[in-house]
Amino acid sequence: MTMTQDELKKAVAQAAIAHVPADCIVGVGTGSTANFFIDELGKIKHRIRGAVASSEASAKRLQGHGIEVVSLNDAGSLPVYVDGADEITRHMHMIKGGGGALTREKIVAAASRKFVCVCDASKLVDVLGKFPLPIEVIPMARSYVARQVVVLGGQPKLREGFTTDNGNIILDVHGLNILNPVELETTLNNIAGVVTNGLFARRPADVLLLGTPGGVQTLTA
Ligand code: 5RP
Repeated sequence: MTMTQDELKKAVAQAAIAHVPADCIVGVGTGSTANFFIDELGKIKHRIRGAVASSEASAKRLQGHGIEVVSLNDAGSLPVYVDGADEITRHMHMIKGGGGALTREKIVAAASRKFVCVCDASKLVDVLGKFPLPIEVIPMARSYVARQVVVLGGQPKLREGFTTDNGNIILDVHGLNILNPVELETTLNNIAGVVTNGLFARRPADVLLLGTPGGVQTLTA
């Protein structure tokens, strides 16, 4: 029996619950897979103290389930962060930000001791870059950052009609074949006007729960 992509996402979301310690504040990502995880959290909400959300959309969904949303400043260090990815390698390097929440995602991931990535099998790649790399940019720097990205070999495209939760714009960079994600993450973040980019390589995932038709596979770096 073939499983739909949504069924695979739901399966990994269910598997991620095993990584949530009792009585903790859990870091929660953004996107359709993270939404399935939030729905699973709703079922065990009496076993957790609350959640730190990586976007306004996730905060709203968590609250809809009656889960208390705590600010990261009040929560301190988190035991676990659960989120999806647009692409991930076996080295646990990721492209994220398809939903535009990359900056808050990177902050919550950085403040978490364990990053559990939840994906369907289509997200596992050998080399990052087929999925356009999102960069969050301060609006006045749009044109400057775009020119610098062209120098680095990318083709930036403004995400039309989109503003991040932080009031900034997104440039989606096409045409990159990312052989050294750690280096490129740093290089892009050093361009003036870049808030952050969607490469999650300096702080990779610790565990990947991969939804395959044969079941959920657990991978570690
Ligand atoms: C949002 C993200 C998401 O994790 C990423 O886009 C994957 O989303 P989905 O689970 O819907 O495929 O980084 O900014």
